[in-house]
Amino acid sequence: MLPSYKRLTTALALLFAATTQATVLEIILPDQECGLVMFDVYGDYDWPGVGYGDYYGQLCQNPNAVVSMYASLYTYCKPSELESSIFIMNQWCTDYGEVPLANASLYAANLTKEAIATLPVLNSDDLPEDSNVTYAFLMSQAWFDVARVSEHWYDYEQRIEAYYTFAGFGFWAIILFFGVVQNVIRKTIEARSGYTYADAECAAIRSASNGKSNIVGRGMATLRKYVLTPSSLPPYHQRRFMGCSIPTRAESFVVLSYWIVTIVLSFVNYHGQANNIFWPTNAPQIWKYLADRTGTMAYGNLPLLWIFSGRNNIFLWLTGWSFGTFNIFHRNVARIATIQGIMHSIGYTGYYFSAGYADYYTENFEELWWSLGVAATVVMSFIILFSFSFFRNRFYENFLLIHIVLSVLLLVFLYYHTSIFDLPEYNYPFIITASAIWGFDRLVRLVRQVYNNARIRSGKGFTSTKATVTYHEAANILTIDVVPGNPSLFPGPGQHYYLYQPLRFFGWENHPFTLAHWSQPATPSDDLHLQFWVRPYDGWTKKLVKQCKANGGSTETIAPAMLLEGPYGASEPIHTFDQILLVAGGSGIAGVLPYLLDYVRRVEKGAAAGANGRIPTCTRNVTLVWADRREEYLRFIAEGSLAGLLDRPDINVSFHLTGDAQPSVAAATTPANVSSTASSSTDAVNSPVTPVEGAELGEKTVHQFGTEKCGVLASAAAYKKRATGGFRIQSGRPDVLSTVRKLAQTVQGTNSRLAVMVCGPNDLADNVRHVVAQNMETDRQSIEYFEESFGW
Ligand SMILES: Cc1cc2nc3c(=O)[nH]c(=O)nc-3n(C[C@H](O)[C@H](O)[C@H](O)COP(=O)(O)OP(=O)(O)OC[C@H]3O[C@@H](n4cnc5c(N)ncnc54)[C@H](O)[C@@H]3O)c2cc1C
Ligand SMILES: *[C@@H]1O[C@H](CO)[C@@H](O)[C@H](O)[C@H]1NC(C)=O
Ligand SMILES: *[C@@H]1O[C@H](CO)[C@@H](O)[C@H](O)[C@H]1NC(C)=O
Ligand SMILES: *[C@@H]1O[C@H](CO)[C@@H](O)[C@H](O)[C@H]1NC(C)=O
Ligand SMILES: *[C@@H]1O[C@H](CO)[C@@H](O)[C@H](O)[C@H]1NC(C)=O
Ligand SMILES: *[C@@H]1O[C@H](CO)[C@@H](O)[C@H](O)[C@H]1NC(C)=O
Ligand SMILES: *[C@@H]1O[C@H](CO)[C@@H](O)[C@H](O)[C@H]1NC(C)=O
Repeated sequence: MLPSYKRLTTALALLFAATTQATVLEIILPDQECGLVMFDVYGDYDWPGVGYGDYYGQLCQNPNAVVSMYASLYTYCKPSELESSIFIMNQWCTDYGEVPLANASLYAANLTKEAIATLPVLNSDDLPEDSNVTYAFLMSQAWFDVARVSEHWYDYEQRIEAYYTFAGFGFWAIILFFGVVQNVIRKTIEARSGYTYADAECAAIRSASNGKSNIVGRGMATLRKYVLTPSSLPPYHQRRFMGCSIPTRAESFVVLSYWIVTIVLSFVNYHGQANNIFWPTNAPQIWKYLADRTGTMAYGNLPLLWIFSGRNNIFLWLTGWSFGTFNIFHRNVARIATIQGIMHSIGYTGYYFSAGYADYYTENFEELWWSLGVAATVVMSFIILFSFSFFRNRFYENFLLIHIVLSVLLLVFLYYHTSIFDLPEYNYPFIITASAIWGFDRLVRLVRQVYNNARIRSGKGFTSTKATVTYHEAANILTIDVVPGNPSLFPGPGQHYYLYQPLRFFGWENHPFTLAHWSQPATPSDDLHLQFWVRPYDGWTKKLVKQCKANGGSTETIAPAMLLEGPYGASEPIHTFDQILLVAGGSGIAGVLPYLLDYVRRVEKGAAAGANGRIPTCTRNVTLVWADRREEYLRFIAEGSLAGLLDRPDINVSFHLTGDAQPSVAAATTPANVSSTASSSTDAVNSPVTPVEGAELGEKTVHQFGTEKCGVLASAAAYKKRATGGFRIQSGRPDVLSTVRKLAQTVQGTNSRLAVMVCGPNDLADNVRHVVAQNMETDRQSIEYFEESFGW
């Protein structure tokens, strides 16, 4: 991992590159407008002689045209405008006509005050458009005035288009800047812990979060309680409200602000003008300005929506915000861009019909750039349609494939759509940038894959990733044990990896899984084992189950070719809190258990350093509450990863068996009273429990996977034998909310802090989030909520 400042400079360099490219967007500055008025007026005629028949050829070189233009420039333009007006005229002559503008000094004799006074002065109705003009003439003041105002509003709208498009970038620059700053502050505070004397340093962290004496701390605490933590519509967050997940208030604030900014910028500052020299009525002007502005702003949103969608998004690292947060931004920017694309299409339709160009409108469909623009709007709309959660959740793989194919088409279509401009003014800053961002993400994915999965190791030669998949039928869980080709990865809590099965027909398919457990190699020749615990669903995970079962028996396991891409996600700094409450629902145990084990490792490290040593954690005790429907899964973990930890005074784990199942009595040495209460998560439950007395207490059980291969877990007797400590399984849902309240009370009014982390079903996570927010204090940041989510 790069240090923060290095990442920051990388980000700034990229931002700078994007804005300089933006200068490719052609805008006419106010003091250049007068020069273009000359082109507007004199460009409507033919000038026999030099350059005849070539638009810029005659306008820029024909003596009569040139003298007419300079004469009008000198007569009507402000002296301060002359230089930049001549500059832009010359630039257009060379860019579009490949000839320079004839120098005024060539016609000095014809451009004296006296000579100009002898020129005929014409009105626009004196000379029909496209006539052959064989003399120099001065336009009338009235003609100039109309042309000047027309040119002004045209150029003004173009400037506004560019400014408003970049205002969108500015908006996100500000948001991301705040994100980076808060992340740097937070990291700096946390960096004080971990490597120093726990007591002094933890006290420092406590006082940093203790806002009683300082307004910033109080402000942050209030912000955390009312804005950063709660959902916008509690208790809905992960759980759907009318098919939509509800962002937190902070996310909603950002997204809503962007909608408002965009809507306002799309609708203000339109100026139509009757008797405009380009269009005689207001309607076509407004339609065209609307169409151009929304089109440009839609292009401006493209790089943003690609930045926000990537797995390898530098702002993920810089701000510490979750992929889920950026995903919310991604979706909203995409929706806005699509609406803008549709408005652009409607705008041009309105323009052609209101300007009386209906014939051209239909003819234009024969032009590739036009039809591809229409196609792009349709494609964008379909992308949005196929992204509705209804489709996304049911057919994730198809959604993804369609999403990617349509996105490629979109970029190609838009590239052709705007390649009609002589300057690549839309393609470079927007289309190429968006493609580059995408390419960067894909490239980094590839690099990560090669880095993780292939390695030449001394003594071992070429090593590649090996995987062992085991299905534990009774627990309904797949364990995937991966030995990465590269043994020197740095596993940690909060990480997730994408797993590929490259030799399958859909080999590109990949799924994210949280790193649930790992074993570091003790010697360099040992392997690193990464373990993933996967609850099978309907797609790839179900196929894995099938493959496992097909392999049959209770001793077989499958070893498919597998690739590992990661790690993604960041460890939450919960070791800086005095107390930790971990809440897991079902397979969510994979998300929180690594933090418990991390705590244990940190304490061991501290103990190894001696009494005066540095304990790299501020945590004193950890409570884990876990509910699952399968008793076998509860036992599997209790006797596996948690073996030896359940008796410790600083670790309090409660297991809950939910659903219809009851804790098995067979496993217990003494039959127990079991009453299964199907209670809701809000009523207090301390139902009778089943004690499982470990027959051989203290037996050291190494966490082993693959001992029970495909098939049913070992018998109840085996549990008994391997159990290392008495652990009890309670039946019915845990009363998580009162646990949260109880623990919250223990920190209230003290200076210690509590971290609550949840990984589990939507309802569970949302309820805990809500209660945590309710129990937060406003004068200090005593409790913080963390969420590991298995979806976005
Ligand atoms: C960061 C993260 C960590 C996760 N960690 C774990 C874990 O440790 N253990 C575990 O059991 N599950 C975990 N999941 C969930 C797991 O990724 C899905 O259950 C799995 O992808 C389903 O695969 P499938 O083809 O069988 O699903 P399907 O039956 O096709 O779909 C089931 C659900 O999974 C979602 N889904 C499918 N593929 C993906 C994907 N590639 N990315 C995101 N969502 C997808 C679908 O939207 C759908 O809601 C995690 C998810 C995320 C986002
Ligand atoms: C410039 O002035 C000369 C002399 O008055 C005249 O012959 C010539 O036609 C003029 N040229 C133009 C382009 O008006
Ligand atoms: C025109 O000529 C003058 C003097 O010869 C020179 O200073 C000026 O740069 C020239 N302008 C252009 C646009 O070539
Ligand atoms: C202009 O002049 C050209 C020949 O120089 C002639 O062919 C054309 O018809 C003329 N156009 C008009 C509108 O008079
Ligand atoms: C956990 O630690 C905190 C802080 O040291 C303490 O107040 C609390 O009583 C402890 N709880 C348990 C159950 O040990
Ligand atoms: C362990 O946590 C449960 C709540 O989940 C609580 O009732 C119990 O008192 C705790 N035990 C200890 C020793 O703190
Ligand atoms: C269940 O508990 C009750 C009272 O605690 C006791 O009388 C009864 O014998 C117990 N039943 C069994 C099967 O242990």
